[in-house]
Amino acid sequence: MTKQTIKIVLNKNKKEKPEAQQLEFGKVFTDHMFISEYTEGIGWFDHQIVPYEPIAFDPAATVFHYGQTVFEGLKAYVDKNGNVRLFRPEENMKRLNLSADRLCMPRFDVETALEALKQLLIIDREWIPSLEGTSLYIRPFMVATEPYLGVAPSKKYKFMIILSPVGSYYKEGIKPIKILVENAYVRAVSGGTGMAKTAGNYASGLRAQEIADQKGYSQVLWLDGIERKYIEEVGSMNVFFKINGEVITPMLNGSILDGITRKSIIELLHHWKIPVIERKISMKEIKDAIYSGELEEAFGTGTAAVISPIGELNWNDEKLSINRGLTGDISKRLYDTLTGIQNGDVADPFGWTMQIDNPVPVQQII
Ligand code: COI
Repeated sequence: MTKQTIKIVLNKNKKEKPEAQQLEFGKVFTDHMFISEYTEGIGWFDHQIVPYEPIAFDPAATVFHYGQTVFEGLKAYVDKNGNVRLFRPEENMKRLNLSADRLCMPRFDVETALEALKQLLIIDREWIPSLEGTSLYIRPFMVATEPYLGVAPSKKYKFMIILSPVGSYYKEGIKPIKILVENAYVRAVSGGTGMAKTAGNYASGLRAQEIADQKGYSQVLWLDGIERKYIEEVGSMNVFFKINGEVITPMLNGSILDGITRKSIIELLHHWKIPVIERKISMKEIKDAIYSGELEEAFGTGTAAVISPIGELNWNDEKLSINRGLTGDISKRLYDTLTGIQNGDVADPFGWTMQIDNPVPVQQII
């Protein structure tokens, strides 16, 4: 993709910013967004940062009918010196392209996406909250826009980036959450789209999530789609268990999301010389480890959720308490270290953070 100018149209009607203490997840959006168009045979063109506003789609756009869409989630933080920081942003943009490959969508150049994101963050800089536990959630996504009702890859797309100042993903904050193990519905099977960040994976999980909500559980724990035996992931997180001093997480198998927080946690644990293993792990093994007292703690990982300790699993109507419903030592240490690296309070020996301290030149402002 050749380097193209990003046209910038500034918003003249800026919105009032919410109080940082009131922030929830994903409910308010900043003043600007990035948008780019794709047409088969031409490629990506018309990169623009424009005021955040509803956009028009043809009612026959492929995305509405056959769900050809992919997305990402990452976060920006401000450090004590007022610098804007991103956490492993190129990993998200690369994963967006892997998801796009799976859904027969065009790739978007990683460098251009990062450049667009940096410019957008500089323009909406004042929307990044600095209160502990808050951040600016970044949602890049691509949708199929060709008006066509035949089942085929669209010939037109939009790639967009929107921003949302957020607080904690769960109402529990970083307190341990309760999770319902799902036996009836499945999220994905190997060979399907489970490894892609695509809307359908989340839409198909809503029914089970609704049942979990009704029973007082925050999330669903998905089991494998074939034997309904092995642990896959939680609704919006990857999952880890500490058993007998060893941290275990389900191995990537094509149906589990290759989480960037998951990957970072594995690297951190290696760095601390804490044994961490990626392997198949059955729900029966977890139950046995809880009964024998060997399961020390469990937690979920994700961009939105960061590190979320798990205090209870409900499997077949049996309540299995983990670590007496308390946050475990590893969960706490991982949370403090990861959020510290992300917001610049803790040294980053891995080179994970990208600092945006110099405004990049803006090519054309209207
Ligand atoms: C994220 O952690 O960024 C996710 O994409 C989960 C999301 C579905 C809330």
